[in-house]
Amino acid sequence: MADPRAYFSVLGALDYMIPDVAEPVVRQILTATAEVEGGAGPVVLDVGCSYGINAALHRFRLNFDTLRRRYARREMAALSPDVMTSFDQNYFAAWPDTGQGRFIGLDVSKPAIRYAKTVGLLDDGIAADLETNSLTPDQAKIVSRANVILATGCVGYVTEKTYRKLLDTMSRAPWVISFVLRMFPYEPLAEVLAERGLVTERLQGATFVQRRFRDIEEFESTVVAMKERGVDTTGFESEGLFHADLFLSRPEADAAALPLETLVTVTSGRNKTIGPRYVEVDADQGMQVALVP
Ligand SMILES: C[S@@+](CC[C@H](N)C(=O)[O-])C[C@H]1O[C@@H](n2cnc3c(N)ncnc32)[C@H](O)[C@@H]1O
Repeated sequence: MADPRAYFSVLGALDYMIPDVAEPVVRQILTATAEVEGGAGPVVLDVGCSYGINAALHRFRLNFDTLRRRYARREMAALSPDVMTSFDQNYFAAWPDTGQGRFIGLDVSKPAIRYAKTVGLLDDGIAADLETNSLTPDQAKIVSRANVILATGCVGYVTEKTYRKLLDTMSRAPWVISFVLRMFPYEPLAEVLAERGLVTERLQGATFVQRRFRDIEEFESTVVAMKERGVDTTGFESEGLFHADLFLSRPEADAAALPLETLVTVTSGRNKTIGPRYVEVDADQGMQVALVP
């Protein structure tokens, strides 16, 4: 599809939320990356970026649900893909950039990458399946600019094969942030990262909901497969939701200086408030108070 309307409609109907629930944690990690790099904002390679959703959420004060509602409007459904794309170009250009980082995307979907670049969410994008193909020299040049690799909702479909190729083209060791469904083993990927000197930590005591199960077949087959692998689904997948773990892989010295449990604070309920909130805004005139809807 040339624009994200169908994507938001299908995944939104399943309460897809991993980009939203991951956002506060990713923000803390990106801030820490910037500190390690001496203040320079990170360049994030978003693996399986689709239409640049993580870029939208981190660069602007937007969330998946806000975007889903935008695309679900009747007036939006009537637009041609070209008009929708040009409206989105203006929409994203109208938001102040948080300065959290620049984004590069990798996805197997050419239309998704084209859209995300055209509307300005991605600085650059690679439409490729690195599970089966190699990076071209031009694609390798794009990848080499990144110092963070992020993935939400795609490790499992994207494996260590892709990561091996990405890491081989990066001149310095990146930080690798992965939200991975508990149904997928992370060890094969962690081993490839370890070969490159990256230490992997899993955030203990917190999981991140990805979405509801689509139907009874998906529910039953997932729970059965996980139980067969010895994963206890009680209180997690057995309650009808896919859960993801957070893994962070970094050079050993970075991990030793700031362990993941110290770096990240998970605040439950932050994304669930409905009423307006008072917030502090760091404006040119100094700290201001604003009421946000
Ligand atoms: C569930 S979506 C997640 C998209 C986005 N990260 C998010 O959380 O909203 C999975 C994405 O992975 C992409 N994908 C699947 N296989 C891939 C591959 N081998 N290489 C790159 N991307 C792939 C799909 O095209 C799709 O955009």
